[in-house]
Amino acid sequence: MTDKLIIFDTTLRDGEQSPGASMTRDEKLRIARQLERLRVDVIEAGFAASSNGDFLAVKAIADAIKESTVCSLARANDRDISRAAEALQGAARARIHTFIATSPLHMEKKLRMTPEQVLEQARLAVRFARKLRDDVEFSAEDGYRSEPDFLCRVIEAAIAEGATTINIPDTVGYAIPELYGAFIRNLRERVPNSDKAIWSVHCHNDLGMAVANSLAGVKIGGARQIECTINGLGERAGNCSLEEVVMAVKTRRDYFGLEVGIDTTQIVPASRMVSQTTGFVVQPNKAVVGANAFAHASGIHQDGVLKARDTYEIMRAEDVGWSANKIVLGKLSGRNAFKQRLQELGIELESEAEVNAAFARFKDLADRKSEIFDEDIIALVGDESVTSEIEHYRLIALSQGSETGERPHAEVVFAAGTTEFRAESEGNGPVDACLKAIESKVQSGAELVLYSVNAITSGSTESQGEVTVRLQHSGRIVNGVGADPDIIVASVKAYLAALSKLHSQADRISAQG
Ligand code: KIV
Ligand code: ZN
Repeated sequence: MTDKLIIFDTTLRDGEQSPGASMTRDEKLRIARQLERLRVDVIEAGFAASSNGDFLAVKAIADAIKESTVCSLARANDRDISRAAEALQGAARARIHTFIATSPLHMEKKLRMTPEQVLEQARLAVRFARKLRDDVEFSAEDGYRSEPDFLCRVIEAAIAEGATTINIPDTVGYAIPELYGAFIRNLRERVPNSDKAIWSVHCHNDLGMAVANSLAGVKIGGARQIECTINGLGERAGNCSLEEVVMAVKTRRDYFGLEVGIDTTQIVPASRMVSQTTGFVVQPNKAVVGANAFAHASGIHQDGVLKARDTYEIMRAEDVGWSANKIVLGKLSGRNAFKQRLQELGIELESEAEVNAAFARFKDLADRKSEIFDEDIIALVGDESVTSEIEHYRLIALSQGSETGERPHAEVVFAAGTTEFRAESEGNGPVDACLKAIESKVQSGAELVLYSVNAITSGSTESQGEVTVRLQHSGRIVNGVGADPDIIVASVKAYLAALSKLHSQADRISAQG
């Protein structure tokens, strides 16, 4: 057993399975780069065999990432495993993660296989994966609801075939911390070759206990890998949240006695990037990354914190990447100062063209907004008109009017590729009028399934608005994000960004599609 706790991030695979959270290849690559800056040990980049889009995303991440191990999920069959290995070919460090369900319910009803068939398939899958890669993880899907005697046999066989990591998922979020911890401990004690592999926990959050269960799996069960996602993103109630487990282990080092390699100052930028990309807003009272996580509202608390910080604070906001709302740049700041601030914020734009586009937007913003905060800059580079590889639709000009007793009216000028359109419409409100105007020309037929507005910096109506729009069309779901001090403009930008994604033909079927 080692004192190092391995952080395995599955935001791009299990997180992406959350309906509506599907990401483009470039978005995944951007997040993978942030995960590398965060220094996660393993990045599960996707499920290469599930679609061509996922294959290409895993490949792009494997080719780009140098520090973290890049992993692909694969069902326990030769085709999936070969696809995973192929996608991972360019990786500096690669892992194949193969899985099969082992619970009576899943084997009988989903796989329609006998336990002996499942055992044999697990054995063959790990054997095959080990021929292609040295680093092989085996997961017993629905492991926590599996019959322990059978599970011990499967795990023993997987380790004998060369699995280097054994993962016991609580796939449906059914576990209770003490019971899950004891379950892992029992397996480790009973499997004869258990010391030949690293044990891993993978908990879903259906009962709100994913973090507690994962920590119990480590403390009671002796697991040394936690599988988790940024912001706890994931299907249903999500996965174990990376920021919470990492900060729990760091803050309570006295109790856990474990090392984690994470650069915690990259946590908030990672949280923000994932939330912005997927449109999954972080609740204000969310531990570590929620807007209120370090806000002391009550007079007694404020007084205490001013006298001695640790009276009410167990972590420092700056240690997890919160920067005080400070004015960083102004209208007169030059390109170099802007570039340097991007570096200080850990933001790497891919090309000089992106830096130039971001700088142009910064200048534009500084003309309209007297105080520019770090959060404005982060939003500005997240704005898809700066970073998007697929900007087909682009806002050129917009005018709209609303008056008490009158129906709002909007006129929008926008480009679709090289063609310019001028569109007009009325609507229930100014945003509705703008989107109807655009639709009168584009006729996308898409359904708007989410529209949300957030103030980027709190406490002032001068703040930029950040709008997320989610569109659904023919089974595809895409998110568009736009930021602007004028929320009507932000809404139109977000809508056009989402339409651009729908317009692009790239395959975006989510991981288990
Ligand atoms: O929840 C689960 O069982 C999984 C496995 C595929 C690892 O995500
Ligand atoms: Zn899962």
